[in-house]
Amino acid sequence: MAINRTFTMIKPDAVEKGHIGAILEKIAASGFRIVAMKLTQMTKADAKEFYGIHKERPFFADLVEYMTRGPIVAAILEKDNAVDDFRTLIGATNPEEAAEGTIRKIYANSISENAIHGSDSDENAAIEGAFHFSGREMF
Ligand code: RTP
Ligand code: MG
Repeated sequence: MAINRTFTMIKPDAVEKGHIGAILEKIAASGFRIVAMKLTQMTKADAKEFYGIHKERPFFADLVEYMTRGPIVAAILEKDNAVDDFRTLIGATNPEEAAEGTIRKIYANSISENAIHGSDSDENAAIEGAFHFSGREMF
């Protein structure tokens, strides 16, 4: 399996609850190398663009409000099979359906406030990483 990259955000709910360190430990223990990372906060315009694929969905306004209410940790991660392995590590969108031991099972409240984001394809990982980081911030 080729080495590739994914993009993640530790979402505002998990940052508010003080879970940054524990989540990063789990990510590191699962073999991901940190290519880029920062604490940042998205504007409403950022969140609308980032989650633009969901703009017709009934939860879109709540999603934008949630994702902009406080800081997030944005990061680019590298590993063999990064996109799929990271989605496995974070678990299902709804924490009630997430497998035992996954980040969402442990740290998420609900399907709406679910602690962490993971890119769903190599193409989106590249788009999302470039949305948050310049080339000079990637290592
Ligand atoms: P993400 O993009 O954040 O990694 O999440 P995902 O692929 O597992 O789920 P997606 O369908 O892309 O949904 C994006 C985010 O929108 C919120 N959501 N709320 N209330 C709801 O029914 C609902 N459904 C989705 C979640 O924050 C979800 O992660
Ligand atoms: Mg998604």
